[in-house]
Amino acid sequence: MSTPRAKPKFYLTTPLYYTNGLPHIGHTYSTIVADVIRRFKRMRGFDVTMTTGADEHGVNVERSAKKAGLSPQEFSNGIAAQWKQIWDDFHIAGDEFIRTTDERHHRTVQWLFQRCRDNGYIEKGSYTGQYCIYDNAYVVEAGPGDLCPDCGRPTETVTEENYFFKLAGFQQKLLDFYAANPDFIQPESRRNEVLSFVQGGLRNLSITRTTIRWGIPVAGEAPHVFYVWFDALIGYLSAVGGPEFDQRNLWPADLHLVGKEIIRFHAVYWPAFLMAADLPLPRQIWAHGWLLFDSEKMSKSRGNVVRPRPIVNVMGIEPLRYYLLREIVFGQDGSFSYDALVSRYNGDLANGLGNLASRTLTMIERYFGGIIPEASSGHAKGTYVSGTADFATEALTRIIGHYDRLAFSSALEETWGLIAAIDKYITVEKPWTLADKPEDRERLGRVLYTAAEGLRIVTALAHPVLPEATQKIWRQLGQTSLVGSVNLDQLAWGQLAPGTKIEKSEGIFPRLDKAQTIERIEAMEQEQNNPPAQPAAATAATPAATTSAIPAAAGSAAPAAGTAKIGIEDFAKVEMRVGLVKSADRVAGADKLLQLQVDIGDEVRQIVAGLALVYKPEQLVGRKVVVVTNLQPRKLRGVESNGMIVAASAPDGSPVLAGFLEDVPVGARLK
Ligand code: MSP
Repeated sequence: MSTPRAKPKFYLTTPLYYTNGLPHIGHTYSTIVADVIRRFKRMRGFDVTMTTGADEHGVNVERSAKKAGLSPQEFSNGIAAQWKQIWDDFHIAGDEFIRTTDERHHRTVQWLFQRCRDNGYIEKGSYTGQYCIYDNAYVVEAGPGDLCPDCGRPTETVTEENYFFKLAGFQQKLLDFYAANPDFIQPESRRNEVLSFVQGGLRNLSITRTTIRWGIPVAGEAPHVFYVWFDALIGYLSAVGGPEFDQRNLWPADLHLVGKEIIRFHAVYWPAFLMAADLPLPRQIWAHGWLLFDSEKMSKSRGNVVRPRPIVNVMGIEPLRYYLLREIVFGQDGSFSYDALVSRYNGDLANGLGNLASRTLTMIERYFGGIIPEASSGHAKGTYVSGTADFATEALTRIIGHYDRLAFSSALEETWGLIAAIDKYITVEKPWTLADKPEDRERLGRVLYTAAEGLRIVTALAHPVLPEATQKIWRQLGQTSLVGSVNLDQLAWGQLAPGTKIEKSEGIFPRLDKAQTIERIEAMEQEQNNPPAQPAAATAATPAATTSAIPAAAGSAAPAAGTAKIGIEDFAKVEMRVGLVKSADRVAGADKLLQLQVDIGDEVRQIVAGLALVYKPEQLVGRKVVVVTNLQPRKLRGVESNGMIVAASAPDGSPVLAGFLEDVPVGARLK
């Protein structure tokens, strides 16, 4: 039986991500948010457990595995390991990583099915419907030939014998539950969406397949396998004990964090499954919005994904965390932009928090030998000191409230408002002038105490979002505890002890050159999307800069990429043609990139290529080159590139253009 715990528990989850590909920053966003909540809740005195994991079954994984020449299990092992590694490297790994291929999960699914069945909520039936294989869902409103409204792909007509979950009978029970638990679905807009869906009536739900092999077999019911939602959702429970959940005392989940496209599964199916099995229901489902790129949802199929590794390799994880939480209003969609990412970094982290820390610590070092001065008396009302202290005290309560409501952008906006107020206070008080006059010594001490105490409070408040940077500042402020162990409810002005020895200030967020930073990230991303080990054209227009190793498969779905042989039909998918360079110009702010207009026979294409360090624009005009013509368009430094120029990679990484010894007509295909 469960052991009583000293602190209240808080169990939160991210979605379990599909293993048919690797994370882009949309997935990373969900996992970062969960980690921020975990850290915040710990600072409110909760014993927090966070689960993330991998949703491994289904047609998409089976297909990707086939493409890679691997069994679904082998393929999924490789991808799941990479997801886990990425979360580890970014320091956002869950406390539990549940895989739907885990034995503990299989056991839980069978057990839950049996409970639902024993309670009379499972029946056999046959179903014909339009099915979207990509989204693993029937499209109820679609007819034959219709496209899936979510992803735009054609639906397929499917008839098969299934086990059904009797969802139809749960309409009123769910509506009653929502009414009794008004905070169950957040935000409000999603709650309304779910309510009207359920009010519209529910149909029984097919929960097994006989056409799919890659799934959990229904015990004693071959060839039925469980499919998708009566599999993945149960992972949240499998992760914390499954049938023996009461031993760990973590169930029910306090918060399921999901993207808005899967709210229905979490807010309708999942509580119904649990009701049918007589199990406790989660306390809250929070659906966040989407990260958009070029105004569209980022997704692999649209070819507009941004991968997290290049950003993290160049800037570190903390600027990305800060940017995503500050820039996106939680619950709404938000656009991702490299430009805004680096601007936020320079504006808020380098010039804001970083600068406040370094100027405060440097002055304490210089004027007080690195010892926090006495606050002394004189906190008379109306002085800047009392103003700053009062401001901080009030802001503190509001900021905790924002975090509590998951209003991260407001929490950070107010925290940075506090930074600005302390900065202004320093600027007005001019400690560097006070330091010249011995009679102002006491005032100087008061000013620097106030600055340091303000910095301490800000540091604690920013900790959930910037765990590592704030720990460094905390230590530099001479604090021996961990900033993460601060209880936010007890954080108050005046707790910084005068006499504390501080550490030497060292830069936390050095300023970054925007153009160079973006160029480095994009170069890495290009390389990751086209790993050098790929055949022929893949190395082409990759800008030469590669500053750190990226796992070969990080950008592609195939763990065996580069080693697996491909068939001629795969090679035939790459269309290469002879092109003639009509013009070449440098791309502003990017010293490696050239913007080319290339005649490929029936049209002139704009292509951005990483050739500028080796080729002058005038050397290229009039030259015949090999162009990969059927690549997804991409933007490099904001300039659209419609194809790729093929080049060899010299030992130092610089590109050497492929060409012809004999004359060839422009537009001729390479085979
Ligand atoms: N496997 C299901 C979830 C099962 S949960 C029991 C699934 N997986 S997924 O790999 O497609 O991940 C979806 C989740 O990733 C979204 O719900 C969201 O949390 C995150 N995101 C994926 N793309 C996103 C954006 N473009 N923007 C923000 N988050 C996005 O669905």
